[in-house]
Amino acid sequence: MGIFKIGIDRIYGRASAAEVSALKGEIEAANRMLHDGSGAGNDFLGWVGLPQEVTPECLKTIGDCARSLASLADVIVVIGIGGSYLGTKAVLEAMSDSFAPLHGKQDKPVLLFAGQNLSEDYMAELLAAVKPYRLATIVISKSGTTTEPAVAFRIIKKEIEERYGKAEAAKRIVAVTDAKRGALRTLAEREGYATFVIPDNVGGRYSVLTPVGLLPLAAAGVDVAELVRGAQDMAAATGVDVPFEENPAALYAAARTALYRKGCKIEILGSYDPKLLYVAEWWKQLYGESEGKDGKGIFPASVTLTADLHSMGQYIQQGERTLMETIVSIDRPKHEVRIESDPDNLDGLNYLSGKRIGEVNRMAEMGTMLAHVDGGVPNIRIELPELNEYYLGALLYFFEKACGMSGYALGVNPFDQPGVEAYKKNMFALLGKPGFEEQGEELRRRL
Ligand code: PA5
Repeated sequence: MGIFKIGIDRIYGRASAAEVSALKGEIEAANRMLHDGSGAGNDFLGWVGLPQEVTPECLKTIGDCARSLASLADVIVVIGIGGSYLGTKAVLEAMSDSFAPLHGKQDKPVLLFAGQNLSEDYMAELLAAVKPYRLATIVISKSGTTTEPAVAFRIIKKEIEERYGKAEAAKRIVAVTDAKRGALRTLAEREGYATFVIPDNVGGRYSVLTPVGLLPLAAAGVDVAELVRGAQDMAAATGVDVPFEENPAALYAAARTALYRKGCKIEILGSYDPKLLYVAEWWKQLYGESEGKDGKGIFPASVTLTADLHSMGQYIQQGERTLMETIVSIDRPKHEVRIESDPDNLDGLNYLSGKRIGEVNRMAEMGTMLAHVDGGVPNIRIELPELNEYYLGALLYFFEKACGMSGYALGVNPFDQPGVEAYKKNMFALLGKPGFEEQGEELRRRL
């Protein structure tokens, strides 16, 4: 058995086993292209071998910096957007106690996020919330020029400098950015901040296993060595030497590609544990930015279950039959809570007496899977034995690898995102950024 189970046999009502197997050559070729760099976007393939490159020395350097920040701060504001934000948020949420804020003072700093939106109220409330706490920041931007994190950093930097003075502030600010280029690199060097490099050949949405994710996660007390170990094992399990039938990422890529070709244009990633909500957000960015181009691509959507069975469940069961569903299932909950017998049984729940909530959740999951399959929604199942750093690291790399293969099978460059520029040009023009004057006038006329 592999690191975790992947089940694709419940897609066969829509795409047959033979149709999935017929993709073997195409998917294996795509995997080879990821390894030999012969495909589109081959200057962004650094993530393929990344897990193996995270040495104990790298982890030590990251750990030292994380410990130093943690010793200075109760709150670390992690500034970044897109790939410079979602991986950290995904792992943090998955690994955190859902009610940590109510457990009083923690021995690790709390991570708060900024620069992932332009909400004035969010920023005002964040500034107010951090006032009583010792503060530090990790600012993450590969390009070093993205507007949202740059705006947030200007504000947080001022807050830290006003509190501690410039010299002390420099110890509380760490920048993760390009080795040479970008405004953040220039600023960091001038101000003397500690810096970490995002390798040139690793794009934002594939960067969670670089200091982009590892530094803030280490500061928050996440076992990043285990995260990397999971990714390393998954890298080995999805290598070019692994037969198609045993390569989980190849099977997933083939299943979703076969379904897409059979008219399933939307993939819903679902989970029965709300801790995985941001894993789904990370996954949506990974697949959305990698595949959605040239008028093609599966639209990635997500649901958290059972909550969304009481909202999106209706559509999934009976709406347009353009959906496929991928469920990330967790076999063993961390904790045990049983439903006790009640002598009055007014709620009629005594038939559940003695059962764990996890068992009820599991039956909801099984029942829903069968209902959705019966309703014409093909189902892919990814089963993690438990939710810990190791399996999470394996899951993240699994999705990255499958995304690269799927993108090549789709015939797109999975490593660029030219469409992201359109909104930026309009925003700059409307805000009067020098150089955008003409477009600004034109856009204002249209508004
Ligand atoms: O995946 C990507 O490349 C993007 O989502 C980027 O991560 C995002 O736009 C942020 O870019 P940067 O890190 O340059 O600020």
